[in-house]
Amino acid sequence: MGTIRAGQRTGQSGHKPSVSAAVAQPFLQTRIMQFPYEWARPLLFSMEPEEAHHFTFSWADRLQRWGLLKRLVPTVTPNPIKVMGIEFPNPVGLSAGLDKNAEHIDALSTLGFGFLEVGTVTPRAQPGNPQPRMFRLPERQAIINRLGFNNEGVDALVKNVRRSQFVGVLGINIGKNASTPVEQAHEDYVKALREVYALATYVTVNISSPNTKNLRDLQGGDSLDVLLAALRDERRRLIDEHGVRRPLALKIAPDLDNDQIDSIADRLMHYGFDAVIATNTTITRDAVKGLPHAEETGGLSGTPVREMSLKVIQRLHDRLGEDLPIIGVGGIMSGADAREKMDAGAKLVQLYTGLIYRGPALIGECNEAMRLTLREIKMKHSKRAGSSVTE
Ligand SMILES: Cc1cc2nc3c(=O)[nH]c(=O)nc-3n(C[C@H](O)[C@H](O)[C@H](O)COP(=O)(O)O)c2cc1C
Repeated sequence: MGTIRAGQRTGQSGHKPSVSAAVAQPFLQTRIMQFPYEWARPLLFSMEPEEAHHFTFSWADRLQRWGLLKRLVPTVTPNPIKVMGIEFPNPVGLSAGLDKNAEHIDALSTLGFGFLEVGTVTPRAQPGNPQPRMFRLPERQAIINRLGFNNEGVDALVKNVRRSQFVGVLGINIGKNASTPVEQAHEDYVKALREVYALATYVTVNISSPNTKNLRDLQGGDSLDVLLAALRDERRRLIDEHGVRRPLALKIAPDLDNDQIDSIADRLMHYGFDAVIATNTTITRDAVKGLPHAEETGGLSGTPVREMSLKVIQRLHDRLGEDLPIIGVGGIMSGADAREKMDAGAKLVQLYTGLIYRGPALIGECNEAMRLTLREIKMKHSKRAGSSVTE
């Protein structure tokens, strides 16, 4: 199977300009100014986290429709990379959970990401846990969430993706409904895979959220084999049906010991998976002890998970070498953190909590750090080979 290029996903040939954007064009030929996120953050942080989320996206969607959003955010230098047979315009992606229903992909695509991962989506709609279920820990640039896969179900997500203009690299992250017994979890994943297959550039299998009872049990034992085998078999059928092979990635937790990581790595190779995403949020609290909200139930993300995720990436890389690409996520708050993930063996990175604390400028900063790192590596190689590098 050949390389998948942005634009091939929906068979569209390019960006479709909206009518309102076309009207705004003559007035807005150039970048207005870079919007300093630091100005908006005090206002956003004065709201409850979920309220701030809805407020931000109601404005981002509006500004995108008016053609203004891309003029308010910094541009990101192209930094193409091929991973899982997919050509990414740059290696910095949006991590799952921010856009669970794929409602905001047009706005998000304007921010300069090399790829977007939407979801987690479950076969049927479900409300998630009661509010409040998301908490900021600003002293440690962290968040605790126990959203519990609140989403409108896979049919709604598919409609949203079809309605969007987005033609870039789109990962769709799938999960199981809270009401499905864990013994039947594979049926939910297979159903979701079937529904999203045609629209996703790659599909992520999320078995690492701490907020769905027993979900993390799927990371080991017989249940992992049952799940991976079911997905492998379903993908074979889908390849026959659609004539295209979509890469599958598995997303794992930071709270695994080395034996568990090794066992997952081996099974990913055995079942023909294409990538591993490390990591999701942690259930540990050592790094935030004593802080307000530290004892809230849920998954902890941001700075406290950086080191844990790094260790998982290093262990995966020791086991897998270059055989299976690693997507690094967890606590990336700066370009240096993105570089650190790359040095540990990650080919791509994803951001979530960093965006909330740093805003969209973080995307370009990470991309730049990774671009320079890659250039250094290329220079070293070419010096060794006795030739000079041309970019
Ligand atoms: C509010 C919130 C919701 C999340 N929802 C999901 C989700 O639905 N699916 C998933 O795979 N990861 C989810 N995550 C985990 C993130 O994608 C990411 O793996 C994790 O937060 C570590 O990265 P970070 O420190 O950059 O946030 C969520 C994280 C947060 C903070």
